[in-house]
Amino acid sequence: MRDAAIFALDLEGVVLTWNRGAERIFGYPRDEIVGRGYAAFFTEAARASGRPSLIRDAARMRGAHLDEAPRVRADGTAFWAEVITTALLNDDGTTRAFSNRVRDVSERRHAEEQLSKRAAEVAQLADERARLVLQLLDAEQRERRRVSQALHDDALQNLIAAFDEIAEAEHGDATHEEACRRIAPLLERSIDQLRDTALELHPLLLERKGLLVALDAIARGAAGLGGFRVSVRVDPGAASVNDRMVLSVARELLVNAAKHSKASRVSVVAQESPQGVSLTISDDGVGMSAQRREDALGEGHIGLASVAERLSAIGGELSLSGGERGTVATATIPVDPSTDE
Ligand SMILES: Nc1ncnc2c1ncn2[C@@H]1O[C@H](COP(=O)(O)OP(=O)(O)O)[C@@H](O)[C@H]1O
Ligand SMILES: [Mg+2]
Repeated sequence: MRDAAIFALDLEGVVLTWNRGAERIFGYPRDEIVGRGYAAFFTEAARASGRPSLIRDAARMRGAHLDEAPRVRADGTAFWAEVITTALLNDDGTTRAFSNRVRDVSERRHAEEQLSKRAAEVAQLADERARLVLQLLDAEQRERRRVSQALHDDALQNLIAAFDEIAEAEHGDATHEEACRRIAPLLERSIDQLRDTALELHPLLLERKGLLVALDAIARGAAGLGGFRVSVRVDPGAASVNDRMVLSVARELLVNAAKHSKASRVSVVAQESPQGVSLTISDDGVGMSAQRREDALGEGHIGLASVAERLSAIGGELSLSGGERGTVATATIPVDPSTDE
């Protein structure tokens, strides 16, 4: 066989025969190697651990031995070898010598390594994807909880108060005129709140009415919660780039402003940017130090961290600056890849 080295060894590992393939693969001419020990074909480490004689022992005991390991050529370079060592027997069954068949399997070995490297990469991508999906599910659950809370705390409470007013009027504790005067604003507020929530929830409304209306609804909700005034500006180029992400980020930042900032004014600006949209939400509240942000994360507040992570997952970024005069949060939001036109 042209691509195999075939040679025989005596019981001590001295080379007895040497074919053309052996000459080509190992680089020793026949006269140079016959009569010499074959330990030079092994790496130093293999020699030090006694591999050459271990392999001969194994072949003697079991009849043959397969080794896939590096071997060394005459010029000192190594290659991956598949070595089959077979015991050649005397008539009485004792071992007389060994035949060796060596093939250079470097290429196959390399291909296998590439394959397992590729498999590891694919596994890593799958992990990353699973992590993002979990993150998304988590964000969705938090979003549901927030909507449920908004319905409960605002619209529902106003409706209950209106109902109480009606009960009072029925008992004659208040005149109908008085009751109507008190009930009307409660119902009006409930209508506003339900409309805002419906708007926030309905994807078609977002498509039909656009980013400004949707942002405005969220901003008004937060303004009511936090007791501040709010202005919303959406530049022409900023709409329909990645509305869903803009709204999701705005919601988290505006709820933060409502919960934490004690601001009296908040501004929301969405602008076109080279990457897609840049969303800036500034408040004139108590501000937020970098230390506070770190502490908050340690205390298990993950709102901002999760926004930052979701943005960076799509190639965006969240930057926060906050001293004693309020907080400015700027989100860079890339184009939504699912809506390329
Ligand atoms: N606009 C803001 N003004 C002042 N402090 C803020 C503001 N936004 C966030 N913070 C602070 O940063 C912390 C982390 O915010 P976040 O990660 O959203 O968690 P959470 O809202 O659950 O507390 C908050 O606990 C708060 O102390
Ligand atoms: Mg938060």
